[in-house]
This record gives sequence, C-alpha cells and structure tokens, in this order.
Amino acid sequence: MKKILLIFLLSAFVVNVKAQNPSLKSTTLGKKISSQCVACHGDNGISVIEEAPNLAGQKDLYIWNQLRDYKSGKRQNEIMTIIAKNLTDDEMKDVAAYYGQFKITVVPPK
Ligand code: HEC
Repeated sequence: MKKILLIFLLSAFVVNVKAQNPSLKSTTLGKKISSQCVACHGDNGISVIEEAPNLAGQKDLYIWNQLRDYKSGKRQNEIMTIIAKNLTDDEMKDVAAYYGQFKITVVPPK
C-alpha cells in the first residue's frame, strides 16, 4: 500500500513538472540570451573552460531546474549564482529551451 502511494505521489510530481516544461518557451530569445553563456559553455554547447560542464545534449528541464537552483541559492557556485540572479524565470526557460536543442552523439566505451 505504501508503495502504491509513493508511486502515485511521484507521478503527480512528474505531471506537475511536465506542465512547466521550458521547451514551450522561445528558442529565438534563448539564442540571444546564450550570448551571456558562450564564453564558458561554448557557442555549440561544448564548454571551452575546464570548470564548466557541456550544455549540449542536456535536457531543457534539467538546465532550467539548475538555473532556478542557482538563483534561489539551493545550488551554489560563485559564477553561476551571479549569472542566474540576472535572469528572469522566462529568460531561464528560453535559454534552457535553446540549449535543449543541441543534440550529441554518444560513443559508449568498448
Ligand atoms: C564565466 C563562465 C560561465 C558563464 C558565462 C556561464 N556559465 Fe554556466 N557554468 C559555469 C561553471 C563553472 C559551471 C559549473 C558550476 C558548478 O560546479 O555548479 C556552470 C554550470 C552551469 C549549469 C549546470 C550544468 C549541470 O550539468 O549541472 C548550467 C545549466 C549552466 N551553467 C547554464 C549557463 C547558462 C544558461 C549561462 C548563460 C546564461 C551560463 N551558464 C553562463 C560557468 C559559466
């Protein structure tokens, strides 16, 4: 019974998160906002500095959630906190939707 309740709660959470999916936002505006990101994350989403993760191939919802966490202080990083604090929620959705479009090919290890 507990298991069923847990599954129910989890699925309600997933539906709620999906309802706010950033992919519904403007990738055109997102591209403009990405001019603030390319110095570190690269203009193709492959990072150009050692400390920064690649954004290419990442899911839009994940990117948006990380930006929100940096802004709220839930996730801390001296660079990203400043950057996220300067973005509105709509701008975070737009830029997440933009980077969510970069597809990568994965070559698994042999
Ligand atoms: C000056 C360099 C710099 C700039 C500019 C920058 N970032 Fe970052 N970004 C970083 C670094 C370094 C990290 C790793 C931080 C950490 O360890 O939490 C990071 C982490 C992230 C993450 C978390 C990725 C993950 O895999 O968890 C996201 C999302 C992100 N940046 C998005 C952006 C966006 C969008 C912009 C532009 C609006 C941007 N960043 C601009 C350096 C930068």
